[in-house]
Amino acid sequence: MFHYINCVLHAENVPVEIIAKEVGTPCYIYSNEILTKNFKDFDNALKKFKNTISYSIKANSNLGIVKTIASLGGGADVVSAGEMCIALKAGIPANKIVFSGVGKTKRELEEAIKNEILQINAESEAEVNTINHIALKLGKKANIALRVNPDVDAKTHVKITTGKKENKFGVDWDIAKDLYIKASKMEGLNVVGIAMHIGSQLLDLDPFRLAFTKMADMVSELEKEGIILKNLDLGGGLGINYNVELPPTKEAYAQVIEETLGKFNKHIIIEPGRSIIGEAAILISEVIFTKDMGSKHFIIVDAGMNDLMRPAMYDSWHTIVPVVKKGLAPITADIVGPICESSDTFAKDRIIEPVKQGELVAMMSAGAYGSSMSSVYNFRPLVPEVMVNKNAFTVVRKRTTYEEMLSGQTIPDWLKK
Ligand code: LLP
Repeated sequence: MFHYINCVLHAENVPVEIIAKEVGTPCYIYSNEILTKNFKDFDNALKKFKNTISYSIKANSNLGIVKTIASLGGGADVVSAGEMCIALKAGIPANKIVFSGVGKTKRELEEAIKNEILQINAESEAEVNTINHIALKLGKKANIALRVNPDVDAKTHVKITTGKKENKFGVDWDIAKDLYIKASKMEGLNVVGIAMHIGSQLLDLDPFRLAFTKMADMVSELEKEGIILKNLDLGGGLGINYNVELPPTKEAYAQVIEETLGKFNKHIIIEPGRSIIGEAAILISEVIFTKDMGSKHFIIVDAGMNDLMRPAMYDSWHTIVPVVKKGLAPITADIVGPICESSDTFAKDRIIEPVKQGELVAMMSAGAYGSSMSSVYNFRPLVPEVMVNKNAFTVVRKRTTYEEMLSGQTIPDWLKK
């Protein structure tokens, strides 16, 4: 939990200032309590189904976070062999790992088949053929699902919509049944499931209801063809609160699953990312300078778009608060980073209590697609990540050094003297 005690922001029982002093800024701070609660809320909501909560590692791939998910009994949704490696390293059993993605390479598919993961969500006919071919070569049977594209509008940001016909994701609805029939005859495949993921940060349950109803129709159609699926993978996408949003509860989401797919009594897989880790982290940054230009007041902080890409990429809102509240009258300011791009802006014309050089601010709900999308642009080191558990905190990723950043680089022979 992140809360103020005597006007000072705390992560659980630890004053944020103490962490910033120890690890420096910018830094990400995670609350074990929020992370655990979010997972358990899904777990409770899905109790009535045989289920696997396959946490979507792309939202945050920190080993400490993934290990926490593993310790709670969670699985993983991975989109690369790298993410599969983290999931296995964190102790997530292979039979709780699903592998999604439109462009899995042969090497990645081979690893997934060798690891005998729960299912590979194939997204095209070419991928189905390739998986079959590799499995036969390895003398194995690969567990596959088809990720179908239900052509449903998720009513979310266009850049994070994935379930419309014009998006690159999934197998076209109209050919899905035929592809199932073909796949079910392939020697190298166990056709075990169906998968969907229609988009991210959904604040309305209706698109889920529509998509899950379409999935139910497909499951029934396939049963008529003698294709009996075990796993229904519903993807992720449940939204969270960044500002004034009112996301559906996990209970209400589970209710939609019950209404649309409950009758099948099958294994339900979900792939939540944001709704597990999003609100469980803040990004702490120090004010480097403030300056006035015409009518504009700028607060220049030491975090940049390379540390938290979301505002630059999706114009997304992160609430920004001073770490120590002084009760001053709010001002209107642009809160910007030090990167040499105008899009390096965390907030435009934001109403905020004034903060001065050397003071700290916190960017809220930064756990999902924050550190995992960060880069070293402007040759800035990756920032530390700290996990807090009640009174204790531990650095779960240290700040990258310049030596580490340079370690893979070499100077061409012809430039060496
Ligand atoms: N499953 C699949 C196949 C996905 O593609 C995604 C997210 C998820 C699960 C997890 O979705 P979630 O529960 O987190 O909504 N970078 C963007 C979000 C991109 C989401 C990509 N896919 C952002 O910062 O808003």
